[in-house]
Amino acid sequence: MPVDLYDTATFANGHPVAAYDALRSQSGLHWNPEPNGPGYWAVTRYEDVYVVDRDYKTYSSEPTIMIDDPHAKTQAATGEAKMMLMMDPPQHTRFRQLIRPQFTHAAAAEKIARLDDLARQIIDNVIDRGTCDFVADVAGEMPSYVIAELMGIPLEDGRKLYQLTETIHAAPESVAPGAGHQAVMEMFGYASTVIAEKRARPKDDLATRLLQAEFEGRGLTDQEFLLFFLLLIDAGGDTTRNLLSTGLYLLLQNPDQLRWLMGDLENRLPAAREELTRLSSPVIYMRRTATCDTELNGTKISRGQKVVMYFGAANRDPKKFDRPNDLDLQRAENDHLAFGTGPHACLGKHLARFEIDAVLLTVLRRMKNIELVGQPAWLPSTFISGPRSMPIRFRPA
Ligand code: HEM
Repeated sequence: MPVDLYDTATFANGHPVAAYDALRSQSGLHWNPEPNGPGYWAVTRYEDVYVVDRDYKTYSSEPTIMIDDPHAKTQAATGEAKMMLMMDPPQHTRFRQLIRPQFTHAAAAEKIARLDDLARQIIDNVIDRGTCDFVADVAGEMPSYVIAELMGIPLEDGRKLYQLTETIHAAPESVAPGAGHQAVMEMFGYASTVIAEKRARPKDDLATRLLQAEFEGRGLTDQEFLLFFLLLIDAGGDTTRNLLSTGLYLLLQNPDQLRWLMGDLENRLPAAREELTRLSSPVIYMRRTATCDTELNGTKISRGQKVVMYFGAANRDPKKFDRPNDLDLQRAENDHLAFGTGPHACLGKHLARFEIDAVLLTVLRRMKNIELVGQPAWLPSTFISGPRSMPIRFRPA
């Protein structure tokens, strides 16, 4: 059977490790057909993903980073405005500068105490039960809280918006027809109420700051704000949740590694978190479009063709990582690409790392004898990887 990375079934049990191995070892790039599109080049080797992600002049983020071209109706709602993720420098650089100060290492580090507080509250809510769905009750809670606080909106709304991202990222055939577009429209509807609220009652939050920002001699248009809002909710929600859930799953599958981690939890956590990030690679792919005829690793690529980077495949490349499919929390070098690289490298990576640390520390300190209750089912998505739910049992410490 030829490998089909466009098919949701290929990701039914998480990253298709054997398929990645096969594609990486064939010469050149893999041409993946699309049922309703022209097909695309799948990039699976570390060195190739690295080149494509950094060379924005040859591999453009326009018109979109999704394999499917944008939904005409969604595009109509935002007119000329574009999401930063789908821009190239220099326009992209100007937009990124607008929010970068809120996402530096120092800015994220200021939130550590608050993140520890939030992690404590999340675990307080489930600890006496002795059982929970780790995905919904623990892992999903943290990014919902963080997004809500960042944007200055009520926590309940953060949770609702984050549920919408789930529909947006789901494979179209796994949700009702048009549900993805409908979810984007709901998100825009909500963001419009935020515009009105923050203009009337400005606060010290990112939404207010964006609305007040002086940008190229003007303010952001409402449409530009809607797209920033969607990006921030979208990028920081299920990515963080899936890393936490897959991370705990990997630890439970590798008891010797978990034992090593527990030997000196606080000091060993940073290395462990990077290894969990490498193997879980919550963002499955990002697409680029060739701006000219070019060649990559012996494959000729024509102008206008889609070129899709598979981060989970690059992160298991044996040329880069020793025993790449093993969880090895003591890996000396771990230069993974789970957050991307180049101009679009994840802006939230410092914040994400502190979120992960806060939750894992609290979970592993306070929940003992954690066990899976059955095997988790994976999300029906070719874009985002992680368990859809993961019931666990534990003993309160
Ligand atoms: C484990 C958690 C996360 C993972 C694995 C992740 C991964 C990624 C990846 C792969 C990209 C694209 C990189 C590229 O194209 O080279 C990206 C972009 C981005 N991420 Fe994250 N992300 C995570 C958490 C977050 C959080 C918590 C936030 C913010 C609250 C965030 C905000 C962004 C933004 C704004 C971009 C677009 C950057 C740009 O276009 O310049 N991410 N992320």
